[in-house]
Amino acid sequence: MTKAVILSGGWGTRLRPLTCTIPKTLIPIVNVPLMENTIKQLIKAGIKEIILAVSVMSDQLKNYFGDGSKWGISIYYTEEKEPMGTAGAVKLAENLIGTDNFFMLNGDVISYFDFSQMLKAHKNYGGLGTISSYTVEDPRRYGTLVIDNNSRIIKFLEKKIIDDTISEIKPMPINAGIYVLENEVLSYIESDRPVSIERKVFPVLAKEDNLYAYEISGIWKDIGLPEDYFYGNFMILENLFQEKGKDQKKLISEGCKIGKNVEIIPPVALDQNVIIENNSRIGPNVIVGKYSKICDNCEISNSILFDHCYISKGVKMNNTIIADYCSIGEKTKIEGSGNNLVILSSWVSVKDNLELKGKTTSIRVCHHESIKQSLIE
Ligand code: GDD
Ligand code: MG
Repeated sequence: MTKAVILSGGWGTRLRPLTCTIPKTLIPIVNVPLMENTIKQLIKAGIKEIILAVSVMSDQLKNYFGDGSKWGISIYYTEEKEPMGTAGAVKLAENLIGTDNFFMLNGDVISYFDFSQMLKAHKNYGGLGTISSYTVEDPRRYGTLVIDNNSRIIKFLEKKIIDDTISEIKPMPINAGIYVLENEVLSYIESDRPVSIERKVFPVLAKEDNLYAYEISGIWKDIGLPEDYFYGNFMILENLFQEKGKDQKKLISEGCKIGKNVEIIPPVALDQNVIIENNSRIGPNVIVGKYSKICDNCEISNSILFDHCYISKGVKMNNTIIADYCSIGEKTKIEGSGNNLVILSSWVSVKDNLELKGKTTSIRVCHHESIKQSLIE
């Protein structure tokens, strides 16, 4: 029986300060933890046993996913004392994987496609590994693939190598971070030391003519950078809005209370028990986590608020990400612009009448900080 291993052990440094308190794969995508989305898709493809390869902030992941019974599957864990690299992590899961082929997934990727079709394609190709590929405009941040007419990967180039070889930036198929691997691939990985599957194993499999590409289309995004995370959320939000027949009401969860004279400009997603008081304008592109409260006369657009945030009266927000339990004082203005975002980690409090503006660079505030002065960057 095919199982799946999901990698969820990196530090998520580029997504700090959000990842200082929340593991990258638990960060919400339109109010649902990223990895929960992935798990649901694996379940749709008939996968019943999933191994989470965890290291950093493992307790939070274990608390959230438990033994998987909430989703009707079994979830097991392998735990690294320190990150063992992408291959090292999967090697540790060897006994749990058993003898069959298996899925291996980067946990920090949003994607929507039929995993069962990928498994089918892998069986048809007959190689030791099949890598999902996706074409992006600028491939420099990714592993790139050179593919022949029979979907065989002739070359696998992990990032940085490509920087030196590429003379112009042009669209290329990249490694989308979802693989089907035959069990034998595990014998290519040395035990007890950190190993990268992208650097040490895939280039070898490609040389041996044992690696194939499965092209995916539609929604795909690695949320490794704040701007990817930010705009990735709005892409999923828009998609959800379309799926619900552009009915804004269907994006408002149970228990929400919306006051008088509140203008909601779609798409806006409110999780359970959100309160929006009177005379506020919310949207477009606003996502609010459960139990958050927005008081009177606020104007919020292009922003993501996690759970339990408190936004006082008269606050203006745009291009902002606010993690859980933040509180924002009265009449404070928080505004980023373009890719320059204002990002507050968990439990940050901002006093009344301040301005936090990310004009030329992003503003990132560490968890539990109390901001008493305006910040303009
Ligand atoms: N358990 C464990 N242990 N997980 C790890 C470790 C580790 O030591 N190191 C990284 N991971 C997990 C991360 O949490 C993430 O889910 C995944 O492995 C990939 O690591 P990233 O650090 O996000 O790599 P990347 O995004 O720069 O590049 C990778 O993904 C791209 C696609 O998004 C590569 O696989 C590229 O080739 C690929 O294009
Ligand atoms: Mg990544």
